[in-house]
Amino acid sequence: MALLEILHFPDPRLSRKARPVEVVDDAVRKTAEDMLETMYDAPGIGLAATQVNILQQIAVIDVSEDKNEPRCLINPKIIGRDGEEEMREGCLSVPEVFAHIKRAERVTVEFLDLEGQPGTLEAGGLLAVCIQHEIDHLQGRLFIDYLSPLKRERLKKKVLKAQKAGQATASSDQSIPL
Ligand code: NI
Repeated sequence: MALLEILHFPDPRLSRKARPVEVVDDAVRKTAEDMLETMYDAPGIGLAATQVNILQQIAVIDVSEDKNEPRCLINPKIIGRDGEEEMREGCLSVPEVFAHIKRAERVTVEFLDLEGQPGTLEAGGLLAVCIQHEIDHLQGRLFIDYLSPLKRERLKKKVLKAQKAGQATASSDQSIPL
C-alpha cells in the first residue's frame, strides 16, 4: 500500500470529472486500498479519487467511530433522495475550512463493490452527507462551491494565506474532514 498525495484547493485539477470504471480489476482494488490508507492517515472519513489526481469514479468512506468499517463505492450514483439537513462539513482538499452545507437527509446509492458486483445502499446521517460530498468530488465539485462567490473568495484568501505561512494542515478543529 502507499500513501497518495492529496490535492488542495485551489488546485484546478480538483474540478475535473472522473470517468466511470469499466472493469473492476486488481489495479482498481490497489487504488482503493491506497485511497483508504491515505484517508485513514490524513485523517478523514471520506476520499474521492479526484482528490488524489486519479480520474476514476472511486470513493472510499469510513464513518465508523473505530475506523473499522471501510466502504468502497465504485461508479456511485444517487438514485433516491429524501428530506433535507444541514451539517458542518470540512474537506481534506480544503484544509482549515468548515462550512454548513444543505444536503439531502437520506440517499439511496447504486455502486459496484471491489469485486465488481452491483450493490445498493440506503444511508442517512453522516454517511449520507459523506456519500453526497464524495460523489460531488467525482463530478469536480467541492463543498465550498455551494457557498456564495463572495464567501468562497474569502475562504480562498484564507487558505492561500495559510499555505504561504506554511501552517500545518492538521486542524485543531474537532470536525473530521470528508
Ligand atoms: Ni472532500
